[in-house]
Amino acid sequence: MVNKERLRQEALRLLKEMPQTDKLQVERKLAEFLFASTVWKDASSIGLTMALSHEWDTTRLIQQAWLGEKKVCVPLTTENRGMQFFYIESYDQLTDGAFRIKEPIPELCTPASKDSIDLLIVPGLFFTETGYRLGYGGGYYDRYLTDFKNTTLALASKQQIKRSLPIAPFDLPVDHLLTDDGFLF
Ligand SMILES: Nc1ncnc2c1ncn2[C@@H]1O[C@H](COP(=O)(O)OP(=O)(O)O)[C@@H](O)[C@H]1O
Ligand SMILES: [Mg+2]
Repeated sequence: MVNKERLRQEALRLLKEMPQTDKLQVERKLAEFLFASTVWKDASSIGLTMALSHEWDTTRLIQQAWLGEKKVCVPLTTENRGMQFFYIESYDQLTDGAFRIKEPIPELCTPASKDSIDLLIVPGLFFTETGYRLGYGGGYYDRYLTDFKNTTLALASKQQIKRSLPIAPFDLPVDHLLTDDGFLF
C-alpha cells in the first residue's frame, strides 16, 4: 500500500532527525511511566526487541527487568516472516541478525513459548489513539499477535500518534499505548 510506505518514510525521518537530548528525555519519561505501571509490575516475563538507534532504547527496560527478577525474551525471525522469542540472561547470548537488529543465538538460549510472555512490547512507527500500529512493513507482529493471549504494549512519542492510519483487517491493535505524557490507555 503506497500510503503506508509514505507514512513509514515520514516516521523514520521524524525519529532519525530527533535531537539526541529530546530522544533521551522521551526515553526517560517512557521508562518512568512504564516502571510505575501495574502492567509492568504484574509481568514476570517481558518480550521486546533490541532497539535500533532511531528506536526507543530498550536496554534500560532490560536492565530494570533483570534487576526486578523478570525474565526477558527477544525475537529471532523465522521462515515465512514468523518470530520465535528466546529468553536471554546476558547480552552475550545475542548476535547481529536480520535488519542489523541484535538477535538471540538459539543454541545459547531457552525458547519462550507465546503463552509464557506476560507483557510484549510491540515496536512501531506510527500509532492511532486506539492502538493500531504502522510497522516496518513486514507484518511480523500482525502474524505473531493473531494468537497471542497476554498483554501487549507499545511505546511512542506524541509525534508518533496519528489521528488515522491505513488499517487492514490483519492489523491488530496493542492493549496499552504509552507516550511520554503517560498511558493513553
Ligand atoms: N496474520 C497474517 N497472516 C499472514 N500475512 C499477514 C498477516 N498479517 C499481515 N500479513 C502480511 O504482512 C504484510 C505486511 O503487513 P503490514 O501491516 O503492511 O506491515 P506492518 O504491520 O509491519 O506495518 C501484508 O502484506 C500482509 O499481507
Ligand atoms: Mg500491520
